[in-house]
Amino acid sequence: MKNIIITGGYGQLGIACKKDLKNSFNTLITGSNTFREGVKLDITNRNDIARVYSDFKPDVVLNLAAMTNVDECDRDKIGANKINIEGVENLCENFKGHFIQLSTDYVFDGLSGPYNELDEVNPISHYGKTKLEAENWLKNNYSNSTILRANVLYSYTKRTKASFVKWVVDSLKNNKEINVVNDQWNNPTWTESISFVIKNIINIGLTGLYNYGDKDFMCRYDFAILISKIFNLDETLIKPIKTSNLNQVAKRPLKSGLKTEKIESRLGIVPNSVEDCLRKISNNLTK
Ligand SMILES: NC(=O)c1ccc[n+]([C@@H]2O[C@H](COP(=O)([O-])OP(=O)(O)OC[C@H]3O[C@@H](n4cnc5c(N)ncnc54)[C@H](OP(=O)(O)O)[C@@H]3O)[C@@H](O)[C@H]2O)c1
Repeated sequence: MKNIIITGGYGQLGIACKKDLKNSFNTLITGSNTFREGVKLDITNRNDIARVYSDFKPDVVLNLAAMTNVDECDRDKIGANKINIEGVENLCENFKGHFIQLSTDYVFDGLSGPYNELDEVNPISHYGKTKLEAENWLKNNYSNSTILRANVLYSYTKRTKASFVKWVVDSLKNNKEINVVNDQWNNPTWTESISFVIKNIINIGLTGLYNYGDKDFMCRYDFAILISKIFNLDETLIKPIKTSNLNQVAKRPLKSGLKTEKIESRLGIVPNSVEDCLRKISNNLTK
C-alpha cells in the first residue's frame, strides 16, 4: 500500500481527501498547527518536512496546503510567496516520489473562459501569480508531478469551516439576505468529486497538467439559486450584484471555468452534475 502525506489536511479539500483516500492508502494527515490531533507539518519549515519524511517515508505527497484567501495574498505578498511557492519547493527538496499539487483557474485572467490546459495563462491576482509560479517551478524542476487545477470548491459537512454552499445554506436558514455576484462564471466542484479524481491519479501514477471541474458552468448567483432550491430555502433572499460592487482588494477572473476533456480521457471518468452533488450533500446532512 502506498504511503501518502496530505499537507493542509484540515482544510476544505483535506477533509474530503482524508475520507476518500484512507481506505486505499496509508495516509498521514498533516496541518500547520500543533494543537490538532494530526501531525504538524508547516510547509515553510524544512525541519518539519525532514522529520515527517524520515518518520513516514512517503511514496506520494498531496499538497493541499496554501494561503487560499485571495485578498490576503494581495495584502501579504511575501507571506503568500513563502507558502504557495517556496512551500512547494521545500516539499520537493529531498523527495523523489510522486508530488501532486492543487492549482487553480486563477492562473487565467477570466476574459475568455472556460479554459483548457493549453490556453494562455495571465493571472490578475497575487494568489494566481503564486499558484502559477509553483506550477512553473514543478514543470521545470520536478517531472514526477501532477498539477491539478480546480475552481470554486465547495462542501458542507459538520467539519466544514468555510464554503460557499455552507454560507448560502446557513444564511438562508437564518433568513439572512445575501448578495451574490452574477458576473463570475465557473464550474463549481464538490470536494468529493475532486478527491475521487485524486484517488485515480494516485492509483495510476498519472503525471502532467490537468483541469478538473464538475459538469455545469454557471454564474455564482445561479449557483446560489440552485442551492436554495435543493435545500428548500427562500431564494428571494438572494440578491444579484456585480463583482465591482464588492470593492475587493484582489481582482477576480470573471468568465472562467475549467474544461475537463483531457482528464476525462486519461482517467475514463465523467464529471458529476452540480445538481446531483448538491442533492447528495443535502441528503447526507439530513441523515
Ligand atoms: N477552494 C477553492 O475553491 C480552490 C479552487 C482551486 C484550487 N484550490 C486549491 O486547492 C488546495 C486546497 O484548498 P482548500 O479549499 O482546501 O483550502 P483551505 O480550506 O484554505 O485549506 C488550505 C489549508 O492549508 C493550510 N496551510 C496554510 N499554510 C500552511 C503551511 N504553511 N503549512 C501547512 N499547511 C498550511 C491551512 O491550514 P491552517 O489554516 O491551519 O494554516 C488550511 O488547512 C489549495 O492549494 C488551493 O489553492 C482551491
